[in-house]
Amino acid sequence: MVLIAPSILSADFADLKNELTRLTEAGADMIHLDVMDGNYVPNLTFGPQLVKALRPYSTLPFDVHLMVNNPDTMLSWFSNAGADIITVHAEVCPHLDKTLQTIRNLGVKAGVSLNPATNEDVLKYVMDKVDQILVMTVNPGFGGQNFIENQLEKITRIKQMIAGRDIKIEVDGGINAMTGAEAVAAGADILVAGTAVFSGGDYAKNINALR
Ligand code: DX5
Ligand code: ZN
Repeated sequence: MVLIAPSILSADFADLKNELTRLTEAGADMIHLDVMDGNYVPNLTFGPQLVKALRPYSTLPFDVHLMVNNPDTMLSWFSNAGADIITVHAEVCPHLDKTLQTIRNLGVKAGVSLNPATNEDVLKYVMDKVDQILVMTVNPGFGGQNFIENQLEKITRIKQMIAGRDIKIEVDGGINAMTGAEAVAAGADILVAGTAVFSGGDYAKNINALR
């Protein structure tokens, strides 16, 4: 069964507490929180204080996607704030093995994200230290971009590399009912969606359409 992780990047930032309640009632499986530093990606969102402030308003897992240049300095900030999963970008982690162990040692699930141009080979030697692999199907930074189709073969390759381990494949960027179905057919377990969940305002209907 596919899991749906709405990204609050597309939510009403002035009403996040209620947006979280609405997403929870609409049947979301987890909440995807996009942290951007205005440096690694050309956009700036929020930090651990906001994650901590939102934590009491949903029982769903908080899936924190760090699009930042120095994630190592921030891992404990987000585990303390209530993250259940922390995902870092392989491209900014020179000691990826160590970073993933640090995340797990904080008692949080460890995720690795790959940009569209990044080869899945970087995962080869960390397969036993990762809980979730996030395939970016757009270049990170903004919601509302178009799904990059050639990432489907990367999802299929990663599925083969997982070889039965307990590792989830998550897909992020340009997900709608059509691209989501393609991603799931290729091997995805979790669909992140911003635009597709929030457009029109009927979150339950939109989540069901993705499922
Ligand atoms: C993009 C973020 C995504 C974004 C997805 O950098 O990582 O999570 O919110 O938005 P949509 O679904 O609109 O492409
Ligand atoms: Zn994301």
